[in-house]
Amino acid sequence: MKSAKNRTIDISVEEGKEYLKRCISLSEKIEIDTVTDKTICGDTFETMKFLPEKFADLVIVDPPYNLDKNFHGNKFKKTSDDFYAEYTERWVKAVKACMKDTATIYVCCDWQSSSAIYDVLCRYFKVQNRITWQREKGRGALTNWKNGMEDIWFATNSDEYTFNVEDVKMRRRVVAPYKVDGKPKDWEETTEGNFRNTYPSNFWDDISIPYWSMPENTAHPTQKPEKLLAKLILASSNKGELVFDPFAGSGSTAVTAKKLGRRYIGIEQNEQYCVWAEKRLEMADEDNSIQGYADGVFWERNTASLQKSLRKNVIKEKRPE
Ligand SMILES: C[S@@+](CC[C@H](N)C(=O)[O-])C[C@H]1O[C@@H](n2cnc3c(N)ncnc32)[C@H](O)[C@@H]1O
Repeated sequence: MKSAKNRTIDISVEEGKEYLKRCISLSEKIEIDTVTDKTICGDTFETMKFLPEKFADLVIVDPPYNLDKNFHGNKFKKTSDDFYAEYTERWVKAVKACMKDTATIYVCCDWQSSSAIYDVLCRYFKVQNRITWQREKGRGALTNWKNGMEDIWFATNSDEYTFNVEDVKMRRRVVAPYKVDGKPKDWEETTEGNFRNTYPSNFWDDISIPYWSMPENTAHPTQKPEKLLAKLILASSNKGELVFDPFAGSGSTAVTAKKLGRRYIGIEQNEQYCVWAEKRLEMADEDNSIQGYADGVFWERNTASLQKSLRKNVIKEKRPE
């Protein structure tokens, strides 16, 4: 029995057959409108052949890492770096064909996959940066350091690309509140403390992996948080643009893109995950909030009650006596 607070989406394919019907599969070349705002159920290498060229403004790739991993029946085995690099190059070539000249690509990986991925990306793109995401929970090991971080490579097709830095600011507590002429310098005094909106760096320590009490959580073994995807999507695409995810899993990219007013296409081979992705896309119609992103800024970890309390105070202040 699940606890009442456990909101994990884990409906079976049988229970979710109505969701699966919303997905499409491809066996011939199509126009982009046919697949826009859809989850494509199928093998990404087969499917990408049928997509037109240069349709994506932003591509977010979270491929199977070079690890032993069971994706509900689809098993991946750790292999040599060379073999993993060949596998990476296969999908990179296919994805590159889908990208507009001004498009950006982000690729998620762990330390064991990162160097092989970097080498391939350098050959096809202009690598702009490496983001380090400090996950709160690490994969445990008694004879090694816990693996508590991941890399996200940021690369572009050309020097002409979108980067909306004002849209991805972080709201941080001010440790040393500095005043000029008695007034806060670049920070704000609130009833709950002092805050400053700062430009984001390439070290992300404000995002936790989804856990069971969060509405976005599914039973997918490697689900990415919506807050993480929101940063990538807000920085590197504009409203109405198309975000493509060729290893869609539980649909986190598509759901976040939808919540932020972008178009999306996701490809996922596992029917179970397609069902969860569609369920989440439906839920986004009712609730487009993204945990950790409110009032146009990204908040530090574990500040949900603070955000709520600040919002209540703002509402109180606005209410006439
Ligand atoms: C690391 S997970 C992505 C998780 C996703 N970012 C999320 O938040 O749920 C990789 C996904 O790629 C899918 N996958 C692996 N190989 C695939 C292929 N050849 N075609 C389509 N999907 C594939 C797996 O089933 C898995 O769900």
